[in-house]
Amino acid sequence: MSNITKWRYHMSKKIITLVGGISQGSINKKLFEFFKKEAREKLDLELFDIAALPYYSQDIEAEPPASVTDFQTRLKAADGVFFITPEYNRSFPGVLKNAIDWASRAQGQNLWAGKRAGIIGTSPGAIGTFGAQNQLKQVLCFLDLRLMNQPEFYFTWPKELPGGSLPEFNAAFLRKYIDAFARWVQEAV
Ligand code: FNR
Repeated sequence: MSNITKWRYHMSKKIITLVGGISQGSINKKLFEFFKKEAREKLDLELFDIAALPYYSQDIEAEPPASVTDFQTRLKAADGVFFITPEYNRSFPGVLKNAIDWASRAQGQNLWAGKRAGIIGTSPGAIGTFGAQNQLKQVLCFLDLRLMNQPEFYFTWPKELPGGSLPEFNAAFLRKYIDAFARWVQEAV
């Protein structure tokens, strides 16, 4: 990478990342670790733990707990958002929808609008989160995020990770995705 390119990436946009898997052994959390490692020179990634958020309720919207205001502050400061989603019943997990709903409120104060965004995900199933991503896209479009449409990245999580790494075929595609996403967020005005 040239010094000028490195400098551009150094000035890189801040990306808040939400992972829809909250279990300790979540494969999507593992995917985030691979993503972060591959993207370390290109994206300034911050992980927000969506498990810290309470269930959304209008009863607590006006005076939400600190975890919610912290989330909203971090999201406001971010130039882009990155979603890593598991697939639950051909959709994305409710815990991720809960986080999305929190930042879409109060009415008329949608914090997602205009943010550059990307989605990836993995599952052990044959369609590797296609169904989840498809449904997530619909919600993000409504909330007016600027979603990168191509390339898409969903894949079947392998039964084994050779040497603790992603198979090279998947890792190579992940790098391609990262390059495209880094360009996508750099282009933001
Ligand atoms: C699943 N899983 C699953 N997988 C899939 O490919 N398509 C699906 O529709 C579903 N549906 C589903 C529903 C529920 C309630 C659970 C708990 C699981 C399996 C799922 O992909 C697997 O558990 C992953 O490990 C979940 O991702 P994380 O949480 O490990 O990142």
